[in-house]
Amino acid sequence: MQELPEVTDPRIIDGKKIAQGIEADVKRGVEEFISEHGIRPALATILVGEHPPSKLYVKLKHWACKRVGIISEDHKLPQETTQEEIIGLIATMNKRPEIHGILVQLPLPGHIDEREVMMQISPKKDVDGFNPLNMGKMLIGREGFVPCTPKGIIRALEESKIDPHGMEVVVVGHSNVVGKPAAIMLLNRNATVKVCHVYTKDLKSHTVEADILIVATGVRGLIKADMVKEGAIVFDVGITWQDNKVYGDVDFDDVLPRVGLISPVPGGVGPMTIAILMEHTLMAARMQR
Ligand code: GUN
Repeated sequence: MQELPEVTDPRIIDGKKIAQGIEADVKRGVEEFISEHGIRPALATILVGEHPPSKLYVKLKHWACKRVGIISEDHKLPQETTQEEIIGLIATMNKRPEIHGILVQLPLPGHIDEREVMMQISPKKDVDGFNPLNMGKMLIGREGFVPCTPKGIIRALEESKIDPHGMEVVVVGHSNVVGKPAAIMLLNRNATVKVCHVYTKDLKSHTVEADILIVATGVRGLIKADMVKEGAIVFDVGITWQDNKVYGDVDFDDVLPRVGLISPVPGGVGPMTIAILMEHTLMAARMQR
C-alpha cells in the first residue's frame, strides 16, 4: 500500500491526523460502553465479488475496528450471489442483537439493485447512512446516520474552524454515496450549494465560483488550477487506481498554489471516512442498548 507522506504544509488537510483523533475518542467510548454493558460493539461487513479496491477498503475497515476495539465480522460472497441471498443475509444480521452495525460495500455487481439492498438494512444498524429513512431524515435536517464521507468533510471543516454558513459550495458528482449527501449536509449548514455532474455543460464556469469545492467523480486529474477560485477550500474525494497507486480527481500539484486548503489523495477524506464509520458503529451500539 502507498505510504502517506508527512503533512507539514498548513494548506494540506491531514486526514490521517483527524482520523486518529476521531478513533481515539471512539476507542475511549468503546471501553466505556463495554464497562457499562458488558458487551463489545460489533460491525458486520458484506462484500460481494472480487472488486480489488472494495476488498482493500473492507480490509481497512476491519483494521480500524481492531484499532478501536470493535468486533468485526467479515461476510464475503461470490460475484454470482443473488439479490435474495444478500437480502437474506442482511435479514439475519438485522435480527442478531450482538451485531450493531451492518455495512454492505458498494459497488455491488450489476445484477443487484443497490437501492433495494440498502432499503433492507435496519435503519438502527445502518452505519453507512444509505437507508432511505436515514437519507430522508438528513434531508429534513435531522442528521443521525449519514453517509460517512460527507460527514468526514463536515468534520474537517469544523476542525479547521470553517463555518460554511453563507459560503458558495460547488459539489462535482451527484452520487448517492458522496455528491448528493454532501450537498444536503452543507445546505443544512446554510451554505449556497450547487451540484454539477457528468451532464453539466460548462463545469469550469461553476467551479471557479466555489469557496468550497467538493469533487467526487472518479475522473483522475479533472480539476486544474484554472477551474479553482483563489483561496478556495478543495475536498478531493476521487479515487482512481493506476499501477497500484491511487490518484484523486484534482490535479494536486497544479491546484495547490491557488488554494486556501486542500484534502490530498491519498491521506485526505479516505481515513476520515473510516473513522466516522467507527464512530457510527459505537453510536449504533449505544442506540440499541
Ligand atoms: N463504496 C465507496 N464508498 C463507500 C462507502 O462509504 N460505504 C460503502 N458501503 N461502500 C462504499
